[in-house]
Amino acid sequence: METIHTVEWMKGVARAARADGRVLGLVPTMGAIHAGHLSLVREAKSRCSAVVASIFVNPTQFGPNEDLAKYPRPFEADRAALEEAGVDYLFAPSAAEMYPKGFSTSVSIEGLGDRLEGRSRPGHFRGVATVVLKLLEIVQPSFAFFGRKDAQQQAVIRRMVQDLNLDAQIVTCPIIREADGLALSSRNAYLNPEARRAATVLYRALLALREQVQRGERGIARLLAELRAPIAAEPAATLDYAEIVDADNFEPLVNLRGTCFAVVAAKIAGTRLIDNALIEEHSANSFTVTV
Ligand code: PAJ
Repeated sequence: METIHTVEWMKGVARAARADGRVLGLVPTMGAIHAGHLSLVREAKSRCSAVVASIFVNPTQFGPNEDLAKYPRPFEADRAALEEAGVDYLFAPSAAEMYPKGFSTSVSIEGLGDRLEGRSRPGHFRGVATVVLKLLEIVQPSFAFFGRKDAQQQAVIRRMVQDLNLDAQIVTCPIIREADGLALSSRNAYLNPEARRAATVLYRALLALREQVQRGERGIARLLAELRAPIAAEPAATLDYAEIVDADNFEPLVNLRGTCFAVVAAKIAGTRLIDNALIEEHSANSFTVTV
């Protein structure tokens, strides 16, 4: 695995690989590599002949009171894990390399980027979209891989790729969970043992919702009550939002229909966690719920 720190070097390597006829896959990350990230690498390896992973703790997607300074950065362990997983090129630029003096362009995804996560974290999706656009331009991959864990993020990126006529095909991969259901996240490292136990409440809430859908419940208000109740009952949890939204535009639904997400965000003893379930209508009024 070649580790690359500059934009020009990365562009040159990617250009040469494409000229060689290799199909490039890009896996963008902020590091603190875990099994969720590695599942994206695996999917990339199955579809592509050269895999680029990036590690860049993107300052522009963190709010002023968020965890940019304390975000985990175990670079050597990350590098070893990505190499072991078969990544061909690791792109790890500095902040000054990605945002040199005078940088002033950004991408905002209006509407979709302003709801839910966008409302709780103003400017977050502008930072995400801008850095992902830069990565897509630098590497020019055929495929780019994202986790459904960040459901609104992958929707924002799909919207951007469509609106700006980008060439990369976006692939969304399933959520990887711990044995007790907690979705893997670099931020789980912030949880003390008590908070770690409480953190499974997001998964339990989604399971409660799934059970109601399987029993035939279709009323959004009653499904939302099921989703919110376990979180309200968990003393260590403070709910930010719990909604059922359209999978494309993340507008809250009034009737269960088509493809949607049940999305939840809560603070567990000060650590903000998100999770979701994918709800799909297969034939009239027949739904599956994937957590
Ligand atoms: P990061 O949080 O490091 O996540 C990198 C990728 O891993 C994202 O696509 C995310 O959805 C995916 N991922 C995280 N946890 C996962 C899990 N438990 N199962 C499956 N996939 C999971 O998301 C970002 O970084 C950044 O916003 C980024 C896209 C890199 C832009 O800076």
